[in-house]
Amino acid sequence: MRHYLVRVASEADRQLYHAIRRAVLWEERGRQGYDDARPEERLSNNHRLLLTFDGQGIGTTRLDDLRDGTGLVRLVAVTGAVRGQGHGRILNAMVENYARGLGIGTLFVNAAPNAEGFYAATGWMRCRNNAPEQLGHTERGVQMIKTIIRRDPESVSLPPAAQPA
Ligand SMILES: CC(C)(COP(=O)(O)OP(=O)(O)OC[C@H]1O[C@@H](n2cnc3c(N)ncnc32)[C@H](O)[C@@H]1OP(=O)(O)O)[C@@H](O)C(=O)NCCC(=O)NCCS
Repeated sequence: MRHYLVRVASEADRQLYHAIRRAVLWEERGRQGYDDARPEERLSNNHRLLLTFDGQGIGTTRLDDLRDGTGLVRLVAVTGAVRGQGHGRILNAMVENYARGLGIGTLFVNAAPNAEGFYAATGWMRCRNNAPEQLGHTERGVQMIKTIIRRDPESVSLPPAAQPA
């Protein structure tokens, strides 16, 4: 039960989401100028997601739904104090499930080179030139893809009370 994936809606969650991104993806990398007011953050098809563990915010990402069955995973971050304990893997699985609920079948990410191992360990593969242009391209980024397996309702075994008559 301990993990929840929350779509950021409240001001408190918004502040936490930006604080995690700023700390992990800017300050830890020696970058400055994190902007929490970029217009793409407010687009309704861009889902700002916060991972909580035992009530504490520990991870973030943004899922951009391109509304064509594909989505972009942006800026995945797990706070430094709890890294390497499996939370990133859980975040990845929960985002995949969230994307499935939106009807997304294929996800893309532009991975930081030192995070490629994380994506490879969680089912992503390098793309072969078929990433959407919205993913963007950086010289050092690694474009990766993941196909989401849709659930086949026929293959789900229902508990006795839920079996159709
Ligand atoms: C990348 C990140 C999200 C992973 O989160 P995490 O909670 O540390 O990851 P987990 O503990 O769930 O690790 C899951 C698997 O990925 C592997 N892994 C995690 N980070 C890795 C890395 N940098 N390189 C290689 N493998 C890595 C782990 O060994 C683990 O594999 P295993 O289960 O087979 O042992 C986190 O390290 C982070 O926030 N890093 C800084 C920001 C960053 O680089 N984000 C990616 C931007 S594209």
